[in-house]
Amino acid sequence: MRHFVSMQDLTEQEILLLVKQADNISIHGAQPLEKQLFAANLFFEPSTRTKMSFVVAQRRLGLNVLDFMSEVSSVTKGESIYDTIRTFESIGANLIVLRHQEANIAKKLSEMIKTPIINAGDGTGEHPTQSLLDLVTIYQEFQQFRDLKVVIAGDIKHSRVARSNAYALSTLGCKVYLTGIAEWHDDSLSYPYITMDEAVETADILMLLRIQHERHQADSILNTNDYLQQFGLTVDREKRMQKHAIIMHPAPVNRNVEIEDSLVECERSRIFKQMQNGVFARMAVIQSLLNEGGNYHEKTNHKRQTFIG
Ligand code: CP
Repeated sequence: MRHFVSMQDLTEQEILLLVKQADNISIHGAQPLEKQLFAANLFFEPSTRTKMSFVVAQRRLGLNVLDFMSEVSSVTKGESIYDTIRTFESIGANLIVLRHQEANIAKKLSEMIKTPIINAGDGTGEHPTQSLLDLVTIYQEFQQFRDLKVVIAGDIKHSRVARSNAYALSTLGCKVYLTGIAEWHDDSLSYPYITMDEAVETADILMLLRIQHERHQADSILNTNDYLQQFGLTVDREKRMQKHAIIMHPAPVNRNVEIEDSLVECERSRIFKQMQNGVFARMAVIQSLLNEGGNYHEKTNHKRQTFIG
């Protein structure tokens, strides 16, 4: 694995290794690097969880973090994203973390850039580290993936999280279903659509999505007042979920729109657990990419092999 830009690039075995590696880090921690290495975090779109959990993951691994704010960078003088990344590569960045508004730009750039790129969310394309942290959360709950019924609910068409998770969950043998208003169905994802009422009774994992207002047209058909009752997770619907079923959401949450306020921290919600796992998942991805480039000390390498095996 030279870059981490799409869950479509990974086999079942590769995904399972990363999930187990992240889970192991959550229990035993990880050995920091013994070399000076630099990570550049290039965020061209707003972020709280992804950006900050990358910083925590990088610092825990002993990396030096090169922060970047596009609004006060040479991007304002017209410098392209390619030239920005080549600049960071030239001044010594060993890892690029990229969030950008253009769909699939991380994949395109990874074909032109040698330094490992991690896709931290690219437009409506993919968000593979979000998917990995979601998988870690599911693994901690069910200890396996095969035949689990996962319903992805909400703004499917505009969601990079839906796309990455649908690809990864089917690679792992889960049964994936989608639900949401017809205008947000995505024909490029060939999974069955069910109603929200069917979803709550079917799901082992109910994965809610944020409504991506920033990616909608100005004349959006959405009335957020009706949305919760028609398509969201209300307390009444939550009562019809299976006893063992869990609720997930990548956050930020639009409370009382995708999910009723009182359910955000209810017993079956794993929303804050997902954020916690974000640090471990990102540590696992960084370790794997740097390990591929031979940047880990032998001793650390040996430890990693041991706990993965
Ligand atoms: N889930 C997620 O990507 O959150 P941020 O936009 O805050 O990074």
